[in-house]
Amino acid sequence: MNAPLRPGKKLHIKTYGCQMNVYDSERMTDLLRPLGYEVSDTAADADLVLLNTCHIREKAAEKVYSEIGRLKEMREDKLARGESRMTIAVAGCVAQAEGQEIMHRAPAVDLVIGPQAYHQLPELIARTTRAKGERLAADFAPDAKFDALPNDREVSGPTAFLTVQEGCDKFCTFCVVPYTRGAEWSRPVAQILDEARGLADKGVRELTLLGQNVNAYNGVDSNGQSTLARLMYALADIEGIDRIRYTTSHPNDMGEDLIAAHRDLPQVMPYLHLPVQSGSDRILRAMNRKHTRQAYFDLVARIRDARPDLALSGDFIVGFPGETDKDFEDTLDLVRQVGYASAFWFKYSPRPGTPAAAMPKQVEDAVMDERLNALQTLLLEQQQSFKAGLVGKTLDVLFEKKGRYGQQAIGRSPYLQSVFVEDAAHLMGQIVPVRIDAVGANSLQGSLV
Ligand code: 5AD
Ligand code: SF4
Repeated sequence: MNAPLRPGKKLHIKTYGCQMNVYDSERMTDLLRPLGYEVSDTAADADLVLLNTCHIREKAAEKVYSEIGRLKEMREDKLARGESRMTIAVAGCVAQAEGQEIMHRAPAVDLVIGPQAYHQLPELIARTTRAKGERLAADFAPDAKFDALPNDREVSGPTAFLTVQEGCDKFCTFCVVPYTRGAEWSRPVAQILDEARGLADKGVRELTLLGQNVNAYNGVDSNGQSTLARLMYALADIEGIDRIRYTTSHPNDMGEDLIAAHRDLPQVMPYLHLPVQSGSDRILRAMNRKHTRQAYFDLVARIRDARPDLALSGDFIVGFPGETDKDFEDTLDLVRQVGYASAFWFKYSPRPGTPAAAMPKQVEDAVMDERLNALQTLLLEQQQSFKAGLVGKTLDVLFEKKGRYGQQAIGRSPYLQSVFVEDAAHLMGQIVPVRIDAVGANSLQGSLV
């Protein structure tokens, strides 16, 4: 059984009706334990009360409404004692049958969830308690955290990271980020621009905008709510900021304006880290990725339409619970069809507190190793062939640091490879055209033109 991420929250489940409901209540307990909920026999001190209802007998619904009334009073007593707010959720057949009606008649109810949606329970509970201003796992206020950061940052060289967004609302079933980092939150535009100006003053030419789900960025600006693309246009106006990158992006948040920025804004580098995790629709669904394989293909096609030379990067997980040979073949096939310039590959590892850790059919380690090997071979081949395709081309290289030998310098291509160039040490911090002569294992070699 999963250990809770942060123990100490109390769950009280009241079960009405048949054996099926008793079974469902046990399943819901298992699903919520990872969020830190432990079962309590009494409602009065519970952080979360779940009414697992039954519709079979007459007046069943009426009983539920009067129970909600009692819970509402307990919630008020609890708040009066200075304790945390009780979340009230209604599940089971009444929830299924009366859905909206319950929320309408009993506004004290925070969440109604029908039996078809139990697998989403951790996500729904996390969202609900967040919406009430609570955090499930990580107790931090991102706003205060960023306010406390010194705006006067040390820089080392002409590239810098700049955090623009934190947290994630996607709830992929293998991932701890939504629980540990909390809800998506975007820094205000003005704050980011201030920090970027400070960095530019110190010689930074290339910014990498960071966020767990960076392309969901929606910080406030003077015209309301920005998007990542709008933020990038504002950053590109800063004198000295010549290159902009961003990571990590979710496919579902690639807005049209962001895709267009890859075509229209020269500062946006032709590189995109766009994890897909798996090429199998079955596994994508189990991962709660909220998109299909075909949707990913279509998206990649649209982005490449905007920026044909774009270097695509991705993350892949092999051995997600229930992954069959066929599912894994689908992943290899997706990789072959898409073609990646770089990538990261992982063996699935059950993270305590995530829904996938409690899923049946965990894949054997030896099978995972085999799959990881095959995937790695394919991705490394693609990486090498992308680099080989750059030989003979002239690329703009931003020189970052001195090399090991003589006047050698190391810079970055627009596609993010390291480029080693002789006699370039005097060009530190500058963007200079370089002809690519050869390919190394993890780099390119070039010469000044
Ligand atoms: N097991 C394996 N890989 C994981 N990742 C996140 N959680 C897990 C896990 N439980 C990978 C995903 C993600 C990257 C940052 O780490 O591929 O995109
Ligand atoms: Fe969010 Fe990425 Fe984790 Fe999915 S994998 S929950 S998108 S941080």
